Amino acid sequence: MARIIGGIGVSHTPTIGFAYDASKQADPAWAPIFQSFEPVRGWFAKQRPDALIYIFNDHITSFFFDNYPLFALGIDSSYAVADEGGGPRALPAAPGNPALAQHIGASLVMEEFDLSFFQDKPLDHGFFSPMSVLLERIDTEWPTTIVPLQVGVLQFPIPTAARCYKLGQALRRAIESYPEDISVAVVATGGLSHQVHGERAGFNNVEWDRQFLDVLTDDPARLAAMTHAEYARVGGLEGAEVIMWLIMRGALSADVRRIHSSYYLPSMTGIATLVLENQAAAVPGEFNERHRRRMAEQLDGAAALPGTYPFTHARSLKGYRMNKFLHGLTNPTQRELFLRDEEAAYTRAGLSDEEKDLLRRRDWRGMIHYGVIFFVLEKLGAVLGVSNLHIYAAMRGESLEQFMKTRNTQVMYSVSGDSNRSAGWNKDGK
Ligand code: FE2
Repeated sequence: MARIIGGIGVSHTPTIGFAYDASKQADPAWAPIFQSFEPVRGWFAKQRPDALIYIFNDHITSFFFDNYPLFALGIDSSYAVADEGGGPRALPAAPGNPALAQHIGASLVMEEFDLSFFQDKPLDHGFFSPMSVLLERIDTEWPTTIVPLQVGVLQFPIPTAARCYKLGQALRRAIESYPEDISVAVVATGGLSHQVHGERAGFNNVEWDRQFLDVLTDDPARLAAMTHAEYARVGGLEGAEVIMWLIMRGALSADVRRIHSSYYLPSMTGIATLVLENQAAAVPGEFNERHRRRMAEQLDGAAALPGTYPFTHARSLKGYRMNKFLHGLTNPTQRELFLRDEEAAYTRAGLSDEEKDLLRRRDWRGMIHYGVIFFVLEKLGAVLGVSNLHIYAAMRGESLEQFMKTRNTQVMYSVSGDSNRSAGWNKDGK
């Protein structure tokens, strides 16, 4: 069974990454940053956790206001460094942990935390700034696997402090019920006091920052009761992102051992580090088994229904390239390339030979088996002038005539907005 060995809190200001990249270790203005991170780095080097749950917020880099998630869990196998305007930092991509992420995702949703899930997104300084100083790389590779949890704290309404604390408690049950025998550390980033917008830009509160570290360690429920406005008043509006630290604290035992804490205010943001070791007592084995049974309950038996393939994270990960390619046909430029030179479109999308073959043969059933979702197949149908009915018939292994006999009316349709395209249906479904 997975064990939580500790919780880490660190600021994620870009100054940390900048100081590291510019080799400012000996510069008196920057040296305290490295000194404060050194014990945390040492803790990671000694404890060598198999996985980190890494809580951070994106800074309008990979998550924009067209669809802004409040809690988004990464299920990918790798996370590249984002370009925030001046090119990405020269760091290797961080290795994900899709199996652990899927377990945590399923457990949290079962407990009614309806997260969103992401893949194929580079991550910004909220993620990589502390990472680059916290973890010692071995032959340029990161020493552990990572499950990122992005919290939307920049567009109000944002999650309450209380909700973050409860999410942490649910995260603990998710991690501890993971059946593999691995060690896990929970890392929270953000803060401390700062404000970077408006006439109050430059606001800090050293006294509050120090108090926050103490109360988070000893009495986190008090912090969970505070409102966003109360956080903004004492720590600056952007400083309210410290509610993310409550997710980490919620995942730990009530009693924790504080191994290290430090605080330094060089410029705009209070830079803090905190290491808490977990003091969890064991629970009876049945507790985690019962939890896993509850996780399985909702979909139990669905995959055993004949010809039924629930679109799970595992299928979504496997079919991602194809789903992305077919979804891309909603873009007129990509659609035009596909119709003009199908092979060039496949190559540009980086599809594998197996994926290309499924598409060339218009193997509608094979694509479903592979991990393609129906709702991009109907887009391909619209591009090719193939009706939805043709696709349904092909998936069932029937001719269109056979399938139509099973319907109450003999109507044909597709999702194409071009009636010329549907005037003469592509009869063989190709
Ligand atoms: Fe931030």
